[in-house]
Amino acid sequence: MTILVTGGAGFIGSHTVVQLVKAGHAVVVFDNLCNGTAEALRRIERLTGKSVPLVEGDVRDRTALDALFRSYQVTAVIHFAGLKAVGESVRQPLAYYDNNVNGTLVLCQAMQAAGVRKLVFSSSATVYGSDAPVPYVETLPRGRTSNPYGTSKAMVEQLLTDLQVAEPGWSVVLLRYFNPIGAHPSGVIGEDPRGLPNNLMPFISQVAVGRLPELAIFGDDYPTDDGTCVRDYLHVLDLADGHVQALGQLVAPGLHIYNLGTGLGVSVLDMVRSFERVTGRSIPYRVAPRRDGDLAAFWADATKAQRELGWQASRGLDEMIADTWRWQSQNPQGYQD
Ligand code: NAD
Ligand code: UFG
Repeated sequence: MTILVTGGAGFIGSHTVVQLVKAGHAVVVFDNLCNGTAEALRRIERLTGKSVPLVEGDVRDRTALDALFRSYQVTAVIHFAGLKAVGESVRQPLAYYDNNVNGTLVLCQAMQAAGVRKLVFSSSATVYGSDAPVPYVETLPRGRTSNPYGTSKAMVEQLLTDLQVAEPGWSVVLLRYFNPIGAHPSGVIGEDPRGLPNNLMPFISQVAVGRLPELAIFGDDYPTDDGTCVRDYLHVLDLADGHVQALGQLVAPGLHIYNLGTGLGVSVLDMVRSFERVTGRSIPYRVAPRRDGDLAAFWADATKAQRELGWQASRGLDEMIADTWRWQSQNPQGYQD
C-alpha cells in the first residue's frame, strides 16, 4: 500500500511527502532531479524519522516506470513531475509538451499496464484562461490559455477526462492550484528555484536575504486597488494537506476537480509590505513594465474542496511569510547550504 509521488523531490512534492508520511502512508518518490534534489529527501527523513525511497528516473521512461511498478505495490499516484516556468514554455514549447503531456501519457500507460488506476494530478488555476470571471469556480469551462505551460495543463486535464470516460474504473482528481508559497515551519525544507526565480515569493525572499539587489514589480497600472496584480497565495502545507485529503476521493471511481486556494486576493504591493512587516527586512523595489501574459487579478472559489474534501486553507499570509523567511534565512543558498 504505497503512494507513488512523481516529482516528490520538488517544492510542492517534498512538502506533500512530509504530510503523507505524517498521515501514515508509505511513499516512494520518482523524480529525474531536473529541478529537485535528493537533499530534500534526506531532510524529509530528518523531519519525519522515516526514510522515503527515491527512484531516480523520468516519467517519459516507460521501462523505468514498469520496473518501479514491479518493485512497489503502488495503490495510487500523485503526479507532480513536470516543468512549470511560463516564460520558458514560450521559448521551448516542445520541451513542455514532451515533459508535461507526453510524461503524463507514458505514466498513465504504465499505470494501466500495472493495474493502478488512482491518480491525483497537479493542475493549475491557469486553465481557467484569460477571460474567466473571478472568483474562479470549477463549474466554469476551461478557457483560452496564453502560453504552452498553461496549454499543457489543459491538455492533460482533457487526456485524463477522456481516459476516465473510456475506462470508468479510473479514479482521477484534478487539483487546480492557485499560488503556493511558504515552507515547512521547521525551516528544513522549502522552495529552492534554480537560477533567477520566476515567482514573486522566492524573488522577495532572495532580495531579503541579500542574494538579489531589488524586486521588479511587473506593472502598477492594472485595474486593481493599488495597480499591482492580485493573486490567491496559499501555504504549501495547506496545499500538501489538500493532496492527502484528495486521496479519500480515489476510493470510488470517477473524476473530480477541485480548486485549492484561500479565496483571498493579495496584491504584489500588499505582499511586499506584509513581508517587510513580518520579517523586519526592507525589500527595495522598482516598478517595471508589465510581464507578458499576466492577468490583473484572480482568486479561488474553494468552497467545493471544503464541501467535498473537508479541506480549507488554515494558514494565513503572515504564517506563509514567516515560514518562507525561516527557510530562506536558515538556508540562504537553498539546499546547497
Ligand atoms: P518543482 O519544479 O519544484 O517540482 C517538480 C519536480 O518534478 C522536480 O523535482 C523535477 O525534478 C521533477 N520533474 C520534472 N520533470 C520530470 C520528469 N520528466 N520526470 C521525472 N521528474 C520530473 O515544481 P513545483 O512547484 O513543486 O510544482 C509541482 C507541480 O505542480 C508541477 O506539475 C507544476 O506545474 C504544478 N503547479 C505548480 C504551481 C506553482 O506555483 N509552484 C502552480 C500550479 C501548478
Ligand atoms: N511578480 C512581480 N515580480 C516578480 C515576480 C512576480 O511583480 O519578480 C508579480 C507577477 O507579475 C504577478 C505576481 O507577482 O502579478 C505573481 O507572480 P508569480 O510568477 O509568483 O505567479 P503567477 O500568478 O504568475 O503564476 C503562478 C505559477 C503558475 C500557475 C499560476 C496559477 O507560476 O505555474 O500561478 O496557479 F499557473
